[in-house]
Amino acid sequence: MSKSPDDLVCDFVGGAVGHRLKYGGGRRQALPKAIGFKSGHIPSVVDATAGLGRDAFLLASLGAQVTLIERNPHMHRLLHEGLNRAMHENEQYAEIIRRMTLLHGDARDLLPTLNPDVVLIDPMHPPRQKSALVKKEMRLIRDIVGTDPDARELLEIALACARSRVVLKWPMRAEPMDGIIIPSHQITGKSTRYDVFIRT
Ligand SMILES: C[S@@+](CC[C@H](N)C(=O)[O-])C[C@H]1O[C@@H](n2cnc3c(N)ncnc32)[C@H](O)[C@@H]1O
Repeated sequence: MSKSPDDLVCDFVGGAVGHRLKYGGGRRQALPKAIGFKSGHIPSVVDATAGLGRDAFLLASLGAQVTLIERNPHMHRLLHEGLNRAMHENEQYAEIIRRMTLLHGDARDLLPTLNPDVVLIDPMHPPRQKSALVKKEMRLIRDIVGTDPDARELLEIALACARSRVVLKWPMRAEPMDGIIIPSHQITGKSTRYDVFIRT
């Protein structure tokens, strides 16, 4: 059955996010590795492209303080509602949600005011040719937010603001962003890669 943007929900308790919280691989997963979790060191993170908050939730569940920035009003409302629901689920969830701070606005304006340690960027990715393979949920998000043609500008601002590192989440086989410095290293997941730009 075809779905409309009204069917999109932000759910941290059920589905894939809840499953990952119970059975995920903790700090061994590609994202925490890219962010720079080490024993004795948990970085604070600004997720400049919050979306449905999944990456931010994973990082907060591993102990990081995460500031989430979302500019699209619809996505921001979904996130706000999802965070509220999870806050009232149980104490385990409440503890994680207390580490997450949601901001509404454009990260290009907000990042310079935040003095971030690590910045995570996961813009809407360039459309793939085999669009049927793009997950339904991602298509719904695309219907709401469109593409992010200013992603390169956001990355440049993040590179200028981050004290420790910037992590760009990007499709495994996509070309690097035009005109951007070469990443310090890459961490690869199943279908995603993380380009890591070390600043210090
Ligand atoms: C691919 S989604 C991110 C998904 C997210 N990583 C997750 O785990 O759910 C990209 C989101 O970033 C938001 N976005 C893109 N550029 C932004 C910017 N400059 N400032 C704030 N939000 C931005 C879009 O509106 C969209 O909701």
